[in-house]
Amino acid sequence: MTEIRKVGVVGCGLMGSGIAQVAGMAGYETVVREVSRELLDRGWAAIERSLGKFLEKGEITSAQRTETLARLKPTLAPADLADCDLVIEAIVENLEQKKELFAELDKIVKSGAILASNTSSLSIAELAAATRRAPRFLGLHFFNPVPLMKLVEIVKTVATEPEVVQLGLDFARRLGKTPILTRDRAGFIVNRLLVPYLLDAVRALEEGFGTIEDIDQGMKLGCNHPMGPLTLLDFVGIDTTLAIAESLFNEYREKRFAPPPLLRRMVMAGMFGRKSGKGFYDYSDPRNPKVNTLLQSAA
Ligand code: 3HC
Repeated sequence: MTEIRKVGVVGCGLMGSGIAQVAGMAGYETVVREVSRELLDRGWAAIERSLGKFLEKGEITSAQRTETLARLKPTLAPADLADCDLVIEAIVENLEQKKELFAELDKIVKSGAILASNTSSLSIAELAAATRRAPRFLGLHFFNPVPLMKLVEIVKTVATEPEVVQLGLDFARRLGKTPILTRDRAGFIVNRLLVPYLLDAVRALEEGFGTIEDIDQGMKLGCNHPMGPLTLLDFVGIDTTLAIAESLFNEYREKRFAPPPLLRRMVMAGMFGRKSGKGFYDYSDPRNPKVNTLLQSAA
């Protein structure tokens, strides 16, 4: 296989729906698989919303919107991924669940096809080891919101064939993204730098350096970041960030990667950020988030 024609995406959540969308927009026939009709419908609605925004802004035509949706095939059946040339996993950030999925995909997806993970921080080599095709396995790490963010990290392991790395680079470019190459180390390039900063913002809050709003304003207005760190944490997901911090800490055993207690408590309390309606902010009215005052006093 020397060209990617048909793409599969497993998981239609925050990341998977975005990846399926940009693949469809770039002209790939794309199968997107979820485990329940409800999750599939939710992901599909996110794709329609995002395409609607592009249409409103005149960045795509209504014919392009229709063609994109026609290229996407939502499904619950893993067998529908069998003839894909590239299958990208974008499920929950959990090593065991991902390994189980890759072992299953390895059996279903045609031989020679490439398997990829969108993991933020788990070892690509370890995921590849759940299959019998480590040479045709790599990391393709997208950024949230996928339709807008220009970067894709291409993660090669010690076993990834150069041809597969090249196909990954070409694929990212065809999506209109800029790829960067990184080694298979927890956090790759971006999260290795970003996550300690986000964790430090939580520590600053815990230590009473400032209020939630002031910490966010500080980095928005003082450094021109589009979002303050606590808003960004809610956006990425508190649960996802905890999982990434745990991977980083497991790999490097350095204090700067250790998840602060408040982050863990928030996950225990179901405060996952924007996706669960509450994190550092309360999203009861999504267009007008309010500071989660409970947290301010608990911190
Ligand atoms: N699809 C299409 N268009 C979208 C969209 C989507 N999913 N989401 C937002 N937009 C559009 C909006 O319609 C709006 O258009 P307009 O300017 O014409 O009105 C525009 O994008 C800006 O959106 P908003 O006005 O709602 O908000 P912002 O100006 O704050 O922009 C943002 C939103 C682009 C998300 C910006 O806040 C941002 O860049 N934030 C930082 C994101 C970031 O750092 N992401 C990386 C996270 S780390 C990661 O993903 C790695 C993982 O492993 C953890």
